[in-house]
Amino acid sequence: MNDLIIRQALIFTPEGRREGDVRIKDGVITEIGDVSSSGEEEIDAKGRWLWPGIIDAHVHFREPGVTHKEDWRSGSRAAVSGGVTTVFDMPNTVPPMTTVERLEEKRRLADEKALCNFGLFFGAGPDNLEEILKAEGVPGLKIFMADSTGDLLVDKRQDLEKIFANYDGQISVHAENQVRMDQREEMFAHREDPAVHSEIRDDLMAAEAVALAGTLALINERRLHILHMSTRAELEALEAIREEIIARDSKARVTAEVCPHHLFMDVSAYTRWGTRVQMNPPLRSEEDRRAMWRALNHGDVDMIATDHAPHRPDEKAQPYRKAPSGVPGVETSLPLMLDASFRGMCEYDDVVEWMAHKPAEIYALEKRGAIREGYAADLVLIDHRMSRTVTDDEQRSRCGWTPWAGRDLVGWPVLTVVNGHVVYRRDDRGPGQITTDEAVGTEVAVVGS
Ligand code: DOR
Ligand code: ZN
Repeated sequence: MNDLIIRQALIFTPEGRREGDVRIKDGVITEIGDVSSSGEEEIDAKGRWLWPGIIDAHVHFREPGVTHKEDWRSGSRAAVSGGVTTVFDMPNTVPPMTTVERLEEKRRLADEKALCNFGLFFGAGPDNLEEILKAEGVPGLKIFMADSTGDLLVDKRQDLEKIFANYDGQISVHAENQVRMDQREEMFAHREDPAVHSEIRDDLMAAEAVALAGTLALINERRLHILHMSTRAELEALEAIREEIIARDSKARVTAEVCPHHLFMDVSAYTRWGTRVQMNPPLRSEEDRRAMWRALNHGDVDMIATDHAPHRPDEKAQPYRKAPSGVPGVETSLPLMLDASFRGMCEYDDVVEWMAHKPAEIYALEKRGAIREGYAADLVLIDHRMSRTVTDDEQRSRCGWTPWAGRDLVGWPVLTVVNGHVVYRRDDRGPGQITTDEAVGTEVAVVGS
């Protein structure tokens, strides 16, 4: 099939940085170092950094059912433009992914259209345990513990207990407590300003759900992942559960992710953006935002994912309580984190951990997520000095806007390789080009499933 050599890059491997060449054959990295033979295609990467392609383990690509916001083609074009080579899609499509038959249909759609690799989360409902146990090849099971976009919800304790007692795969939770949300919705019913969103869905609402899911993981010795963690209260709940896991010698494992919008924005953003920056979980205080940075740099939070949740501008422009929650993010997360590293908020090598190595490890991906011989050739070439301003115009997501518009960022992807195929190239100061029309993405394999 293909035979490609990337020459003279600074290569970021799990063992550290090294200068050299990478040879790719038939979609696999076959050599790292000084490659003496020549390839059918060669890319001069002098002065550039070669990273494993970003794995965004939390996106909403909306197909089937809601394709006026995004579909597998538009979403995956956006992904590869941002250096993302693998996405895990959430199950709150229409219909939701609560049966094996529906999952098969989504697989077919993604296979037919995706330029990037993909994994498909299965969706938990209150009464689909039989289907959950039949689902194969998924990165995990997603549980919405409180209402969000779509109609997936498991908010009763006994239903959660049943799932944790029976399902022994990876469980990823949207951790918010529905009872507290309902109470607070009533409490704040008189307010209509978008900022009330953060009051209604407060930090304790999230922390209570983290504690409950954590306890169920602890008791049943499960692998639990807390999606989009955003507050100090949740970090405390997470720490308590982790201590308990050690104290009881439980085989449970609890991991956590944070999204760029909770690292780079806080409640002050409502003033400029209104319902545009309404998302679940909502924007938090500046103190929480800083705490998330500390937790990330300290290793308490394991990884970064975007919760890319596209909605059209006209939908977002509706008043609070009508506007849908969610912001896009799949094509801006890497530049945002490169820029944060450039400004000294974190280390470049840690960003590779949080955005590639760790997601692959947590979700047990087979031979992906790192630059190693024998691993899939999912790569992103980076110009760490390139300075650009984010604009709505350049977004490839069908939603056509970004909450990062106007930000000047230093560090951009200039070439993306998926399974050995060059799918995206940026050679000048424009938005770059998608270089293939083929659906070169494949479903990722999960170890042991
Ligand atoms: O803000 C959000 N948007 N949070 C979610 O939980 C769902 C997502 C969406 O699908 O729009
Ligand atoms: Zn989500």
